[in-house]
Amino acid sequence: MDNKGCVTAIVVGAGLRGNIYASYAKEEHTKFKIVAVADPKETARKRIKDEFDISKEFIFSDWREVAAKEKFADCVILATQDRMHKEPAIAFSNLGYHILLEKPMAVTPDDCRDIATAVKVNGTIMMVCHVLTYMPKSNCIKKLIEDGTIGEIMNIQLLEPVGFWHFAHCFVRGNWHREEDSSCFLLAKSCHDIDLICYFMGKNRCTTVSSFGKLSHFTKENKGYRGWPLTAVVDNPDVENLTDALLHGPYGKCVYDSDNDVVSHQVVNMQFENGATASFTGVAFTEKICVRQLKIFGTKGEIRCSFDGSIRHYDFNSNKTYEYEPLNDPNIKPSLQGHGGADYYTIKSFVEAVQENDQMKVLTGVEESLNSHLVVFAAEKARLENKVVTIHPDGTYT
Ligand SMILES: NC(=O)c1ccc[n+]([C@@H]2O[C@H](COP(=O)([O-])OP(=O)(O)OC[C@H]3O[C@@H](n4cnc5c(N)ncnc54)[C@H](O)[C@@H]3O)[C@@H](O)[C@H]2O)c1
Repeated sequence: MDNKGCVTAIVVGAGLRGNIYASYAKEEHTKFKIVAVADPKETARKRIKDEFDISKEFIFSDWREVAAKEKFADCVILATQDRMHKEPAIAFSNLGYHILLEKPMAVTPDDCRDIATAVKVNGTIMMVCHVLTYMPKSNCIKKLIEDGTIGEIMNIQLLEPVGFWHFAHCFVRGNWHREEDSSCFLLAKSCHDIDLICYFMGKNRCTTVSSFGKLSHFTKENKGYRGWPLTAVVDNPDVENLTDALLHGPYGKCVYDSDNDVVSHQVVNMQFENGATASFTGVAFTEKICVRQLKIFGTKGEIRCSFDGSIRHYDFNSNKTYEYEPLNDPNIKPSLQGHGGADYYTIKSFVEAVQENDQMKVLTGVEESLNSHLVVFAAEKARLENKVVTIHPDGTYT
């Protein structure tokens, strides 16, 4: 911390996510200060440099240059791409930095375990950006559960409607369209959905998973259609014209002819230690974009919530329905309004955790995140091997 008690941070990976979290320093300049940036892209470095008035010696083109120096800030915002989390996470933790780590933690179970071990050995704070957990809605639901309002949870259902064009943008054409470049769909998109289910289940450990899913529709077999919206791309949408328009026009790659391989829809069934069950569905083919639908069924009542609406609690004993509408802070600036304001609450909690050295402010610490990531890896094994996978208490799964 600087001499005024302000938490100092280095942005490592100044892309979309790095900039979002960094912008908190604009909102709360007495609490949070960006003091350095590392990114190979000159435009990315310049944006942060200009925005936060950073002097030349604190601008780096690679995280390794930062890690080669002695620790000079409190924390690191680590927002490089999925396959570039492990090495810097371990290196910065070894140097004593607290870390805000974008999800997924890493792309293999062993890499996740190695990160968790390093953080535990070093005694540093790590928050994995399972942003949904930090939403006022999630806090309200968690409190209802912990207060025993719906008794013992017997079943949770969570739907992540990705949205058809959003899916095409990210998972057919974009950064996460091939597993070998990023990770599987469940890890890339929905490790925080699985984490949210585990968070609501509390100490009840997930023991067994199955999963099914495949890539449908966004494949070469579905390329033959020639009506709208193809006619909006080019007048006569034959292969040559369309190819030319897609190569040189604004519409970019054809979603039916890409090299994408991540699934377009997937279900995960989960069984927990006490026999409670949960299911997660992620699906591309939806109108809504990431407006999660959640249902939690307990022995005394149920909770239903669409993430764009209120929380509805029905109590079995009184036969009454209660509505809760936890509102976001109206002053959240546009840069931090992503994920229904969850981005704001994530970075706010992290900065407070570092400032107060209070691990309790981190709802998605390294241990919980590791466990929910292992559920993701186990579910992916279940899908690929078409079998039910058992997760053992030591985190291994067969
Ligand atoms: N929490 C969420 O809801 C959420 C949402 C979207 C993305 N993500 C995750 O956030 C992470 C970042 O995603 P993004 O969309 O911001 O990506 P991005 O590509 O916009 O940003 C990544 C940045 O890392 C930089 N980089 C590459 N090599 C580097 C190096 N050696 N040293 C320092 N920087 C380096 C790149 O130049 C780039 O600017 C990914 O892991 C992604 O899956 C999380």
